[in-house]
Amino acid sequence: MNSIVAPLVALALLAVAAPAAKRRLELSRAKHGSLTGHTRWARRLAGLIPGYGYDEQHFFNTDGAPSAIATSRSAAFARMSETIRARSPRTLAATADAQAAISDLQFTAAYRVPFQFSEYVRQHLPVGAFVRATDRVMVEDLDGNRRYDVSGSYGVNLFGHEFYKGCIDEGVALVRDLGPLLGSYHPCVAENAKRLCAISGLDEVSFHMSGTEAVMQAVRLARYHTRRRKLVRFSGAYHGWWDDVQPGPGNPATPSHTFTLAEMSSATLRVLRSRRDIACVLVNPLQALHPNRSAPGDSTLVNSARRAGVDRDAYAQWLRELREVCTARGIVLIFDEVFVGFRLAPGGAQEYFGVRADLVTYGKTLGGGLPVGALCGRSDLMKRFRNERPADICFARGTFNSHPYVMGAMSAFLSRLDRSEIRALYADMDARWDARAAALNKRLEDADLPVRVANLATIWTVLYTRPSRYNWMFQFYLRAAGVGLSWVGTGRLIFSLDYGDAEFDAVTERFVAAARSMLNDGWWWCAPNLTDKGIGRTIAAELMAQIVRRLRFLPSAASGR
Ligand SMILES: Cc1ncc(COP(=O)(O)O)c(C=O)c1O
Repeated sequence: MNSIVAPLVALALLAVAAPAAKRRLELSRAKHGSLTGHTRWARRLAGLIPGYGYDEQHFFNTDGAPSAIATSRSAAFARMSETIRARSPRTLAATADAQAAISDLQFTAAYRVPFQFSEYVRQHLPVGAFVRATDRVMVEDLDGNRRYDVSGSYGVNLFGHEFYKGCIDEGVALVRDLGPLLGSYHPCVAENAKRLCAISGLDEVSFHMSGTEAVMQAVRLARYHTRRRKLVRFSGAYHGWWDDVQPGPGNPATPSHTFTLAEMSSATLRVLRSRRDIACVLVNPLQALHPNRSAPGDSTLVNSARRAGVDRDAYAQWLRELREVCTARGIVLIFDEVFVGFRLAPGGAQEYFGVRADLVTYGKTLGGGLPVGALCGRSDLMKRFRNERPADICFARGTFNSHPYVMGAMSAFLSRLDRSEIRALYADMDARWDARAAALNKRLEDADLPVRVANLATIWTVLYTRPSRYNWMFQFYLRAAGVGLSWVGTGRLIFSLDYGDAEFDAVTERFVAAARSMLNDGWWWCAPNLTDKGIGRTIAAELMAQIVRRLRFLPSAASGR
């Protein structure tokens, strides 16, 4: 009898387990091969990296440069340090004074460059955090130094500082009689909602205080209406700092309902087609510039392997495929346009790539210079309650949602969008900004400088063509030349549309001059056989040596207690 039952039981078990195993295998195949696709491993490995820093001896020749080159670098570094201190005494004093009390300042200062260089750089190349004024494309520090602003205010600054000052003034005037009353609406809220529905092509809007909150609400609603839990996001894509959309390094928790899959991948489409537990797919269209890669900060610029470049047709085709599979499987397609909304086209990424989403988040520039997040969606997905089950609601509130001053500035922003001079800025935008990038690249190439740029319209990133461990120094050369980046450095330059040809040419001149100085100072010296992989191996060996050193010291430290 047993001889009959046992194989039958085994067969039954196999029948139950095989589909689950197949699904698991498909999921694994749909992960991107890099660490951005393996968030748990990435976090585990990040936790193992030991902290260490280069001292003065090693700082200038980590690539094995001969002593003449190291001396030249060291002298240039000292000159730059002196110039920074001489130029900005008040700005630097204010920054040093505030640093201990502002956590964010400590964080950004520590992660401006790769950690091995960070402490020495902080000591000698301090960056002032305080500024006094903006004037069109310029920003001025407390010492009166003016620089071209390509920080883009994290993407908020699309039309130039004067534009947002105007929006805020007009918004404040509009709601002054009401003041900061919350709970009831200023009439401009209704007008803003109508305009956003028209822009997004969707039925309803909810207002939030940040992009992160708008994304949270989009995902929550998708889960509520589909009665499924799983969220699919793509490798490297940023969607704010909420736990569920930020698995991996940076988040101490492990979100259990998030799948991080490869973008532009047929294996991902297979997963979406076969699983029944996926509530939504979250897309950040900015990733078209660097699919499956993280936002390119200089703190990870350890060699010249950074790659970027847009293939608009290919990305549009990918979005169409996603749209198709989401429609077929009842999965909610969410475009997170917090960054690119209004920046790529008046109708955002939906218009730019010609694909419509079910839910779309906006933020940043939409607030007319004030903090905001907004979610637009189909009315069936935006509903937060069920008539047939009144206690089963999808809760979303927020004290400051629809704050009159924010809504006033948003109203000014949205009405300006209809002006002919603003519409004109969008005309031929891609062609204009691509031509500017191409012209800069030509100048860099003609001058034999190992730097290039890649762009998605006004969002630019700097690439390096020669293996080097010192590319991050370029942010300091740019700053010294009067070009101000955000703390993430050369991975992200964000232009506003009020950069006319004259202002852009001025940035080009400075950019080329900065690269030439850096080259002349020896930072891009390169051993004939040096490769990016070779640099990676050197760093891996350093890390291993540090880990071994620590392990050797562990027992003695313990016995010393
Ligand atoms: C695509 C995207 N989504 C969400 C967010 C989060 O927005 P916020 O910083 O306003 O919370 C950001 C911020 O950079 C973003 O770029």
